[in-house]
Amino acid sequence: MQTSSKDAAIAIDGPAASGKSSVGLMLADDLGYLFLDTGCMYRAVTLAVLRRKVDINDEQAVVLLTKSLDLAILPPDGSKDGRLYTVLLNNRDVTWDLRFGEVDVNVSQVSAYKGVRRDLVRRQREIANQGKVVVVGRDIGTVVLPDAPLKLFIIASVEERARRRWLEQLERTENVDYEQILKDIVRRDRIDGNRQHSPLRQATDAIIIDTTNKSPESVLEEILALEYFQSIRTRR
Ligand code: DC
Repeated sequence: MQTSSKDAAIAIDGPAASGKSSVGLMLADDLGYLFLDTGCMYRAVTLAVLRRKVDINDEQAVVLLTKSLDLAILPPDGSKDGRLYTVLLNNRDVTWDLRFGEVDVNVSQVSAYKGVRRDLVRRQREIANQGKVVVVGRDIGTVVLPDAPLKLFIIASVEERARRRWLEQLERTENVDYEQILKDIVRRDRIDGNRQHSPLRQATDAIIIDTTNKSPESVLEEILALEYFQSIRTRR
């Protein structure tokens, strides 16, 4: 049965490394909902652009490539490498390739293209319409699922966000430069917040959750204490 986003979707938005993906996944697990991190879709397109050596400044070529991609986001399925989900790009596991270096540097440019957004938003709505789902991104409450009954806007100080990315990258590679990561986050905030199409914005009916100096567990507790969940429990 098809459910509309009105009944079943929880929209979570926020800037890079604000903790929205970890908290979104924990929330989805707790509720038994599907989890969709839309950032990985923009990252997968960026990876494909780089690997196929498509000119990133050629918007039309990037959009054409986006439309041709076979993209699947699956549960982690027992992989014990810290992944929150598995991303298959044309049937190849690219989950970790999406996280570092060139993809980080180029993803904001790719995600600013209108045609790329149109194609990925269509795919995101298709997934969200399948049932109860927690969807995480930048424009979920404002564009992808504007009818979602609960919208959260997750924030944290820029230093804390850079520290989280630094720790995350340190687990997988050496020579990680905190100052460079901080600079890159500030740059991406600027691009994501000022782009012409679907810039990062808090929906007017979103609830702000500040995760600075809080553990993911305490943030989850804070979210589950919201009025929305009290009313869901009463209805059940
Ligand atoms: O959440 P993230 O860092 O993995 O997102 C990667 C990039 O994708 C980010 O720079 C902004 C973009 N993005 C977007 O424009 N819209 C979304 N719904 C999700 C991510």
